[in-house]
Amino acid sequence: MITNDGAVGVGLAGFGTVGSGVWNTLARNGGLITERAGSAVKFEIHQIVVRDPDKPRAASVPTELFTTDWQSMVEHPLVEIVVELIGGTEEAFELVAASLGAGKPVVTGNKALLAERGEEVFALARRHQTPVYFEAAVAGGIPIIKAARESFIGNQIDLISGIINGTSNYILMRMTEAGLDYPTALKEAKELGYAEADETLDVNGWDAAHKAMLLGAIVHGFLIDPDEVYVRGIEYVRPLDICFAKDLGYVVKLLCIVRQHEDGSIEIRTQPSFIPKTNILASVNDVFNAVAIRGDGFGDALFYGRGAGQDPTASSVVSDLVDAGRSLREAPKGGNQGFLPYRKKGTLKPIDETETAYYVRFPVTDRPGVVADIASLLAKAGIGISGTHSSIVPDEPDAAFVDMVFLLHTCPFGTLKSALKAIEDLDCVTERPVVFRIETL
Ligand SMILES: NC(=O)c1ccc[n+]([C@@H]2O[C@H](COP(=O)([O-])OP(=O)(O)OC[C@H]3O[C@@H](n4cnc5c(N)ncnc54)[C@H](OP(=O)(O)O)[C@@H]3O)[C@@H](O)[C@H]2O)c1
Repeated sequence: MITNDGAVGVGLAGFGTVGSGVWNTLARNGGLITERAGSAVKFEIHQIVVRDPDKPRAASVPTELFTTDWQSMVEHPLVEIVVELIGGTEEAFELVAASLGAGKPVVTGNKALLAERGEEVFALARRHQTPVYFEAAVAGGIPIIKAARESFIGNQIDLISGIINGTSNYILMRMTEAGLDYPTALKEAKELGYAEADETLDVNGWDAAHKAMLLGAIVHGFLIDPDEVYVRGIEYVRPLDICFAKDLGYVVKLLCIVRQHEDGSIEIRTQPSFIPKTNILASVNDVFNAVAIRGDGFGDALFYGRGAGQDPTASSVVSDLVDAGRSLREAPKGGNQGFLPYRKKGTLKPIDETETAYYVRFPVTDRPGVVADIASLLAKAGIGISGTHSSIVPDEPDAAFVDMVFLLHTCPFGTLKSALKAIEDLDCVTERPVVFRIETL
């Protein structure tokens, strides 16, 4: 299967943002890559799969490389590695399955595919002894998969905390810095090209959750069922809570947490959270990503960089391509075989048992005794109060409604939920309380 000139044959599925970035990176730095990786590792792209072969393309690619027929690309005798960059979970799955079935290693940036259908994909990888590489699927240009899988292999990983969705991070930053409301900040993100036309997965937390699930799988060895993951997005974050956060010394970030508990269970969740202004993650702005990782040997490490975009993501795809190429040429009977889940099943900690401190805002009627009524129900549930705060402003001293904020000591989320149920029944509470976790990390 080796091509005439000894290059590793590649089939590229997808020539959009990332696919064309891969082409450009190989065109720009192919010589350098071969110098570094060894003469056996140079690449030749034999076919490129797209939806519309007639679409004008920015990169100058021989038109005969384009095809709409992914099956023929996978079966092409000169294609040894398949790069999947079409996205989605249906056709991409068929393509990946066919590649693995043909014994052709796969490089992908498709976090949705791996998070939603990882069980099937990795079963095929195992059955056909053919690796799947996916550095680009988590945090774009940041080499966190390789670090977690290889560099930190000698550590128990206690905690991963990450800001891994650039779109949400940009929107929350603009709400914080410019006081924009959510729809205005989203509109701005779209105009700047930071949010997709369909922003759903970015803002509802699932894009970040998919990445957190992959990180969890890498460091804890088992695939995580999406149905068991607690996910909340940023769509309901209100400027009022961002203002309160500021006043109280916090910033609101869409935060992913993957934490190992002493009983061996894994806590995994994604939600907008308060983090102290002094925490290093609080200064991650714009569309940047950051992943903080804590291990029993190395302590704390922080990875910061561009979590998306053409060149950063292509950088990760090309890194995987080099690993796959090296493995094919230099270590065909071993070497770097990508990731396979190494435990059958782990236990996720039920969300109601996870513990943090909380910020809770109660919209209430402004009458004497409100604070005492709420405080007594919190006390009855055994929840301590570390502070209170209210939205009464000097020029509106006679407002009929106010927002009362309670900062609560650490307790299980389930305990808080039960207490809030009782508090919601008080006649002074006019709307559902708004809850944010306070993360000390
Ligand atoms: N963009 C990023 O910054 C980024 C970062 C990390 C990971 N990723 C992941 O990388 C993957 C690709 O993202 P992208 O932003 O490059 O997407 P994109 O710009 O929308 O490009 C998708 C490409 O795939 C082709 N395509 C889509 N469906 C196809 C089908 N059914 N058959 C054949 N070709 C098909 C399209 O063809 P046409 O060109 O003809 O339309 C296009 O070339 C996704 O899984 C994404 O989650 C992206």
